[in-house]
Amino acid sequence: MAIRTLTPAIAALAADVATVVRSDAPAIEVSRQVADTLTPFLAMPDLLDADQTRGRADCYTQHVLYVDPASRFSIVSLVWMPGQRTVIHDHVSWCVVGVYQGVEQETLYRLVDDGLEPAHLVRTGQSANLAAMTSFFAPPGDIHEVCNASDDTVISVHVYGADVSTLGTSIRRRYDLPVRTA
Ligand SMILES: [Fe+2]
Repeated sequence: MAIRTLTPAIAALAADVATVVRSDAPAIEVSRQVADTLTPFLAMPDLLDADQTRGRADCYTQHVLYVDPASRFSIVSLVWMPGQRTVIHDHVSWCVVGVYQGVEQETLYRLVDDGLEPAHLVRTGQSANLAAMTSFFAPPGDIHEVCNASDDTVISVHVYGADVSTLGTSIRRRYDLPVRTA
């Protein structure tokens, strides 16, 4: 995945995130601080260039915007056309999501795999993440599914505590399990 351009705003965001990830704080605390760092950038009209807001008809699109030289974090934009969604998944690292345009729908799950009954998922929450909102999480307990349930293009900016340009994805595991109500 090539990083084609670095807008001045993304360069500034990357510099600010680098300052936060330098700390020895637990992953969840780092992600909380990165979320605070990301918030003001979501209001910048020139945060992304035209290429970085381009989607595809067949699947949601990931554009790698920046990778830390020491691979401590990476920044991507995700572009969702109407109806596009992820699989149910968890992540390789802590993650911060900021919605840049539109409304992103997120559903949270808990894995039940205690050997007493067949492994399954329980839906634990659902949220509509609006433009300028951020959320953050760190493994374990980070199973979710994201979709664009609207009629408009949705764009979000994600910061991961790993180099997703090398990994290709932020997904650690895909969960193809039945979903039950609690
Ligand atoms: Fe995710």
